[in-house]
Parts: sequence; structure tokens; C-alpha cells
Amino acid sequence: MATLSSAAESTESRTTDPLTLIDVDHVRFFVGNAKQAAHFYASALGFQVEQISDLTTGCRESAQYLLTQGNIRIILETPLTEAHPANDELKRHGDGVKDVAFTVFDAERAFEQARKNGGEAAYEPRTARDSTGSVTMAGIRTYGRVVHSFVSRTGAYDLPSIKQGNSFAPGFRPMEQFSLNAYNRQHSCGLKFVDHLVGNVELGKMNHWVRWYEEVMGFSMFKHFDDKDIGTEYSALMSKVMASGNHLIKMPINEPAEGKRKSQVQEYLEWHAMTAGVQHLAFRTDDELTSVAELRSRGVDFLVIPEAYYDSVWPRVNAMLTKHGHAAVKEDCQRVRDLGILVDADDEGYLLQLFTKPLQDRPTLFFEIICRRGSQSFGKGNFKALFEALEGEQERRGNL
Ligand code: FE2
Repeated sequence: MATLSSAAESTESRTTDPLTLIDVDHVRFFVGNAKQAAHFYASALGFQVEQISDLTTGCRESAQYLLTQGNIRIILETPLTEAHPANDELKRHGDGVKDVAFTVFDAERAFEQARKNGGEAAYEPRTARDSTGSVTMAGIRTYGRVVHSFVSRTGAYDLPSIKQGNSFAPGFRPMEQFSLNAYNRQHSCGLKFVDHLVGNVELGKMNHWVRWYEEVMGFSMFKHFDDKDIGTEYSALMSKVMASGNHLIKMPINEPAEGKRKSQVQEYLEWHAMTAGVQHLAFRTDDELTSVAELRSRGVDFLVIPEAYYDSVWPRVNAMLTKHGHAAVKEDCQRVRDLGILVDADDEGYLLQLFTKPLQDRPTLFFEIICRRGSQSFGKGNFKALFEALEGEQERRGNL
């Protein structure tokens, strides 16, 4: 997401809405073994393993690794003691996303406003400070056991400084010569920023959480899809896309829909302790073909789209682009097909997207790699092919 940087914009936002979200500050994963997970995200997905907070930096409760790619920041955290709250999450859910944290101008004010709007506190404001600057964080609870932290940063801890390699927060130190970092700089996967983050919630709860994002976070509905848009004969889901006031942050919310067989959202819930949670993170690239080719060469497992998809996709996509006066798809059609990439178009342009299989043994969290050429949608025209591919996977897992 673009970061507001000019002093004028900054001053204006400070004096208006405390819930103005500047960026996705970071996404925190609780994992069983952060040291090993860091290697996976580096080797398979091209992340830089940049900083660490652990026993060597005086942190005796957990180990945290900061991984970055473009403007994406992931914290992988693993508990070191029996008392650490991540143990409970890992026991319930296995590895997954605990916290989607947003950068704001003033974390305390954002937290107070969200509380005033009806949000429930996850944790009270706390500030870590040293002579170079400070990081203030406060958290509210969203769906399931997921938290939204508000993060405000001063001095050397502001986001532009972190992007230059400065410390993420007091207590972090740079990783010394993590072996894959140089390779990953030379063989970039090209992931730039978080395009959207999707939550799966329980049947009948989508509208509750839509209202929650409106009332507590000041979001508004950007798009919605019902089971006629997103379904096959067998399995379906419903989805509403919520967007922050400035549209920088997009958070679709899915719920299962009734079908002859099990919805993918229901499968997620059943392997997630019947608890809502983050289903996927979509990462934006400027070059879908190069990104997917690089990720495939590193062994990333993507959903396999049936060959028949490519018989109808080009007439459908190009007809839509022509109708709305847009140029045809510029990517090489044969390479798109060879790489198994999905394409969709709407009145604003087109997009290319592809979805990984689950990133852990449970069929829960996965990633999406998305490139937008005008389209601000989510690939509605691909839902059918995608669901058929997903049903095949569910069947193989005995979950359909
Ligand atoms: Fe998505």
C-alpha cells in the first residue's frame, strides 16, 4: 500500500480521523517453529529474513523473525515458554495469522476510537522506546481469535526508516548473513505489498462482521458476491469486500453457503477449531508471469486449473475489454496457460491471479499472487474454475 508521507497530509489526518490507516504495518503469524518457517518463506516465497528478537536479544518469552519483501512485513513468532499465549493458538489452529496490524498516526487514539465505536480490547496500549524513537501498539479483537493492532512509530522506527533497514522495534537486531537473502535479492519473486486479506467467518456471521468493520473501523462495503457468483453445483460461499476509508486496505469476508457438498469455507472452519480466521493474503506483483515462474521454480505448490479453462478464458476476457474500450491482455497467452495463471476482466480492466495450496498441513491459510491491469475486482469470472479446482483438493483430503 502507498504510504502517506508528506507533512501536509500527515497533519491533516492527525487532526481528523484517528482510524485513518496508513498501511499494513505487519502481519503476525504464530508458528510452531519460527526458525524453520523463516527458511520456508525465504526459500519458497523469496522473503528476506531481516531481523530477529529472541534469547540472543534478551527476549525470553518468544522468538520473532521479521521477514520482508517489497512493502510486505511478516512477523513469524514462536513461543519459548509454556506460559506464552501463542501455545493456546497453536494447539487450536496450528500455524496461522494472529494479528493484522495497521500503521496509524497515533495508536492510542486509534485504539480509544475503536473502543468507543464498540470494539473489544485485545491488549492495552504499550510503548517500547529507546534513544532513537518509539513504537506504540494497542490491539482490538476482530473475528475468531484474530487481532488488529494499531501501530504508531516515531524517530528511527518509522516505516520509511524500517524500509531502509532500520530496526523494526526496540529489541530486534539484524540477522547476520542469512544465507538466502543474497540469492533472493538476485532472484526476486516480485511481491510488492498486501493487496487484500481475506477472513473466513461462520455461517450466518458475514453481515455481523460487515457491520463491525463499518462501525468499529470506519470501513465501507467495496463489493459483494453471493452464492450465485461464487459457487458450483456443489459448493459455494458468499463474500463481502470491506475497504478502509481511504481504500488502501481491503478485507473481504467470506461465509459458507449451502451446497450439495461442503463449502471450502466450511472445510477451513472444521480444521480451524470451528473458529473464524484469516483464509488468505493476496500479494500484489507488477509482473504475474515472472513472479509465478519464479515461485514455481522454487517449488511453490499452486492450485491446478483444469485445461478446459483456457478454451473459454480469452474470448470472455477480450470481449469484456473490447466492450469497455480497453486494450487486450498484453501478456503472452501461451505462457499464461503454461504457468496455469487465471485471468479475469471487468469494466475497469483485467487482472491475473493464482492461488497457492495451503501453506501448512491443515487446509487453512494460503496465499494469492495478483497483478492488476486496471481491474479492482477479485476475479469473479474465475470463481467457477477455481472452485472446481478446490473441490478436487477437498476430495483428495476427504473433506468434500
Ligand atoms: Fe483474494
